[in-house]
Amino acid sequence: MSKPVAIATWRFGLPGVKEAGEALGAGGSALDAVERGIRTAELDPEVASVGYGGYPNAAGVVQTDAAIHDGRTHGFGAVAALEGVRTPISVARRVMERCPHSMLAGAGAREFAQAQGFALEELLTEGMRRNYEEWLRNRDLERTGGIASHDTIGLVALDAHGDLCSGCSTSGLRYKSPGRVGDSPLSGCGLYCDNAVGGAAATGNGDDILRFAPCALIVEFMRSGAHTQEACRMAVERIMTNVSMRGKKEADINFIALRKDGEVGVAATRAEFHFAVWTPETGAQLHVIQRACPEQEPESEGALRT
Ligand code: GLY
Repeated sequence: MSKPVAIATWRFGLPGVKEAGEALGAGGSALDAVERGIRTAELDPEVASVGYGGYPNAAGVVQTDAAIHDGRTHGFGAVAALEGVRTPISVARRVMERCPHSMLAGAGAREFAQAQGFALEELLTEGMRRNYEEWLRNRDLERTGGIASHDTIGLVALDAHGDLCSGCSTSGLRYKSPGRVGDSPLSGCGLYCDNAVGGAAATGNGDDILRFAPCALIVEFMRSGAHTQEACRMAVERIMTNVSMRGKKEADINFIALRKDGEVGVAATRAEFHFAVWTPETGAQLHVIQRACPEQEPESEGALRT
């Protein structure tokens, strides 16, 4: 038997790990815990970068990306540029479980969701519509994207049977080009999971993240013996010391990871990055880590503190 653990990105990951923890504490699978945890953020209209109430694209349409990676089977399901479904993570799970393919995008993903019984609804809330109209009036490059605009929920869970699952869900970069897909639905990029080793998930600028397959890297670093924390830091370093990233001041690349023995790790390019962890002993707790990238801030090594 393993000690169950769940870890999620951002402050809004706190209700997510609490929900995941309830599933895990009752003996549920990591797969169910990840789906349940991510749905809390997707269904919360106050979470402005995930699911219902998320930022729209430049055409005023909310297009979401989500994926789930089941460590037991190396199963994978994803949706990209999906419109009109409040819980993209559940559609991603259906893709994994009931579709011969691993990823569906755009109209095909929506048609699949509808055929699976998901309701099609407007995801753009009134508040987001007003923000969008304001952006249309004052359109400028800085507000297209920007460091505060793309906050994926990533969640990795380990259940009492020792099984792992990773998942993530996002509405992506705000006011992105219609059809733009980030790292979140791509295996190895926005998430990865291998029951023999551990799982990882990413949040930040998917246009940068997806070029490096960092979540697969993190799992492989762990397989080679790196501690979870060190594996995350090495992935940040690998990206930030790459020639195409050197000198970038606004890089937004952040990782969470969970090893098969229950050890968690986090690394970020942000000055401060919040994440949430659930264990049976502590319940759901919020933590913060400082910037881990020597290229950006030579004096600071990432250090966990609560
Ligand atoms: N990391 C989410 C995105 O850039 O779409």
